[in-house]
Amino acid sequence: MDLIGRLEEYRLEERKLGWQGTLRDYLEIVQANPRLARLSHARIYDMIMAGGSSPTKSGETSYGFFDADLYGIDKSLQQLVDYFASAARRLEVRKRILLLMGPVGGGKSTMVTLLKRGLERYSRTEEGAVYAIKGCPMHEEPLHLIPESLRPEIERELGIYIEGDLCPSCRVTLDRTYGGRHEDVMVERIAFSEKERVGIGTFSPSDPKSQDISELTGSIDLATIGEFGSESDPRAYRFDGELNIANRGLMEFIEMLKSDEKFLYGLLTLSQEQNIKTGRFAMIYADEVIVSHTNESEFVSFIGNKRSEALHDRIIVIRVPYNLRVSREIKIYEKLIGQSRLDGVHIAPNTLRVASMFAILSRLEPSKKEGVSLMKKLKLYDGDEVDGLGQKDVKELQEETEREGMDGISPRYVINALSTALVRDGVGCINPIDALRALRDGLGQHPGLSTERRSELLNLIAETRREFDELAKQEVQRAFVYSFEESAQTLLNNYLDNVEAFCNKTKLRDPITDEPVEADEKLMRSIEGQIGVAESAKKAFREEILIRLSAMARRGQPFTYTSHERLREAIEKKLFADLKDIVKITTSVKTPDAEQLRRTNDVVNRLVAEGGYCPVCANELLKYVGTLLNR
Ligand SMILES: Nc1ncnc2c1ncn2[C@@H]1O[C@H](COP(=O)(O)OP(=O)(O)OP(=O)(O)O)[C@@H](O)[C@H]1O
Ligand SMILES: [Mg+2]
Ligand SMILES: [Zn+2]
Ligand SMILES: [Zn+2]
Repeated sequence: MDLIGRLEEYRLEERKLGWQGTLRDYLEIVQANPRLARLSHARIYDMIMAGGSSPTKSGETSYGFFDADLYGIDKSLQQLVDYFASAARRLEVRKRILLLMGPVGGGKSTMVTLLKRGLERYSRTEEGAVYAIKGCPMHEEPLHLIPESLRPEIERELGIYIEGDLCPSCRVTLDRTYGGRHEDVMVERIAFSEKERVGIGTFSPSDPKSQDISELTGSIDLATIGEFGSESDPRAYRFDGELNIANRGLMEFIEMLKSDEKFLYGLLTLSQEQNIKTGRFAMIYADEVIVSHTNESEFVSFIGNKRSEALHDRIIVIRVPYNLRVSREIKIYEKLIGQSRLDGVHIAPNTLRVASMFAILSRLEPSKKEGVSLMKKLKLYDGDEVDGLGQKDVKELQEETEREGMDGISPRYVINALSTALVRDGVGCINPIDALRALRDGLGQHPGLSTERRSELLNLIAETRREFDELAKQEVQRAFVYSFEESAQTLLNNYLDNVEAFCNKTKLRDPITDEPVEADEKLMRSIEGQIGVAESAKKAFREEILIRLSAMARRGQPFTYTSHERLREAIEKKLFADLKDIVKITTSVKTPDAEQLRRTNDVVNRLVAEGGYCPVCANELLKYVGTLLNR
């Protein structure tokens, strides 16, 4: 890395950020690029869109801005973006408070954090640059200096829209420092920063008795009040409430519905009229996005409360249910594990899948449709085809639900359970059975679970386990078959010879006596039976194979046991049935003989080389499948 070069680049960037000039200079800049003077909602919208977007398979749009951090909640994100799209066009919705409503640990705070961090980054780029009156405690838009009566003209000239009046502090500065000469007022480029309290504010309700409204709207500066003589002199006031400093950007109101009413009324005026009522001053204009979050039960009681009715209309609710797709849930865990101390521990294949399955099952509502079990629904939602049902049926299933995804097991719960499993006696490896055990044990300490719900969840764990048993068998089966690839090919050749004889009504030659013999019906059926080819369908199936065989021969391609998908499955299953006995022996005998050891090692090596296992969990898997088969 060219360290010095990078340092130079960095300084150059910082210098750009350090731009200062007069209002006169700023007007030139805005004239060249009117977007610089956009309002907060438009800024956020542009920021999101700058990340690009693409359509997903399920017909939603996925936004690059959220892509790397949020998975499986495309619908909520779409609503969020739609809100910003209309608000950016200054439609009425921008005067509403955004309220994210959803279950615990469903990604609400993450959504807001992404917007905040995004704004910090965006304001440091050319497209996202923000300019403000120098020294203004609310870093307000310099165009506020333009007197009301001149605005229509200037707006026409620059092609921009100016909204809002100068804050009390800047009014004084304009007079006293600049002698009333607007064009001389200094303007600077600013960078949003939550830490520095520029453009991003956070308010979190605490005890209403001790919490003061000044946290939101600023307060009188007791140190300077003597100097300026009056409480209504803006110089004796600190415009440093969260609402003040969030001007131009975003304000997060944590757990809004938990907070005292006196705080909510401040919000009401701000959202409705874009004004903050501060101390003894007239209303102060502010332009910011207000985002809050809540859970469903709080929201329901809020809606039921007549006293807060005025606020109901002022809120736009976006539902943020849990993700319902296994593959996305796995990505969430991978992300969270990457950030935690679980990093570095070996996680056996299927461990996260199994944990995800349980979490998603806990979030699904049972379908009224006949034959659609929760497990089937889970697979359909994840994009699989199951028993003739496919993606076209998913919509219908979704439509019959009421509040699917609004409760169940949260990603946080799962990750905590997995962490607990890992701190036990310094394990180096965690497998699906460990995960299910940890998830089950955790339910004992889960607060607020009724006995009924707990037993429901235990059933879901059992169901997940059954699903895993199938997966585990398949995994071992595959490893075995690969270790016995030669046997697979031999079995195939044998089958093909017989099929040929059967279809052409010819005889085979006995390999030893060289006498003509009938096609071995028993052998053929033992293979076809593995994939449910009925007696009445066997002829068609065999002919189909033969056609494929000759078609490939014409093209000079060899027919291997992987050439025909269903035949491959049949052969694998047949081999596995034969091998079952070996598995049973290799995994149950206390002291296996040399041959058994060799076979076990073959399988273990295969699992390690291709399956993502380490020797420890490969051996465990084998042992586990052995006990399954011995049942
Ligand atoms: N759909 C998701 N995609 C990616 N990560 C997620 C998702 N849902 C939750 N998470 C992760 O789970 C953790 C908890 O999420 P977060 O804190 O954002 O939830 P929340 O809705 O704010 O919860 P609470 O109601 O408890 O405040 C975070 O680390 C977050 O990254
Ligand atoms: Mg949160
Ligand atoms: Zn100001
Ligand atoms: Zn391992």
